[in-house]
Amino acid sequence: MHNLDPQARVPASPSPEALRRSGQVTTLSVPTILLHWSVGLAVIGMLAYGFWLQTVPTGSDKTPLVQIHKSFGILVFALALVRLAWRWREGFPPAAGAYPTWERRAARTLQGFMILATILMPVSGILRSLAYGRPVSLFGLPLIPKLFEEKQETYYAAAANLHDGLALVLALAVALHVVAGLSHGGRKGDGTLARMFGRAG
Ligand code: HEM
Repeated sequence: MHNLDPQARVPASPSPEALRRSGQVTTLSVPTILLHWSVGLAVIGMLAYGFWLQTVPTGSDKTPLVQIHKSFGILVFALALVRLAWRWREGFPPAAGAYPTWERRAARTLQGFMILATILMPVSGILRSLAYGRPVSLFGLPLIPKLFEEKQETYYAAAANLHDGLALVLALAVALHVVAGLSHGGRKGDGTLARMFGRAG
């Protein structure tokens, strides 16, 4: 028999956030989605600009172009740190489907590497500048004073090799990640790509 008493307490339906946290619906939180796209697109832009910079001949005209790269790199660093803290707090989201173990492991390893690389890229860039005997500034605002009067060849080589080598590996990892994401989008009933755009996975 139905309870027609209008005063009767109706159990509140769980919020989308509660459903997500309990694992019943694998939507992603707004900060997760915003941080994914902002850091992802910024890193792709930084990689493209950095590789293009290598085609510009060394000279005084190149200096302001390198400064732009460094300043945006520091902004990306700040954003990547926020993303790392958020990932730490939330953990990795559960898979949006019943994928084979190898696929889940491969995706997790790639994501872990990309998070690490988005931190190591700016750190190695900053170390590279300091080892060159330069201070680090953000659009002209001094951030780190210069540590050396002259270029420190050994430190510079180590930081530059890390920055350049990691850039190549990161570019490959991002390409692989994009291809994998698009392949999920092409699979019927697969919510992995959909949830990156705020829809239920
Ligand atoms: C996510 C952040 C960053 C990315 C993805 C990135 C990417 C790159 C790439 C792809 C290159 C060209 C590498 C090559 O030789 O093949 C480069 C060069 C360079 N980067 Fe970065 N970078 C980042 C942040 C920074 C930061 C924060 C600094 C310094 C504060 C920096 C300093 C430099 C310098 C000095 C060069 C060499 C430029 C030249 O003289 O041609 N980078 N970077």
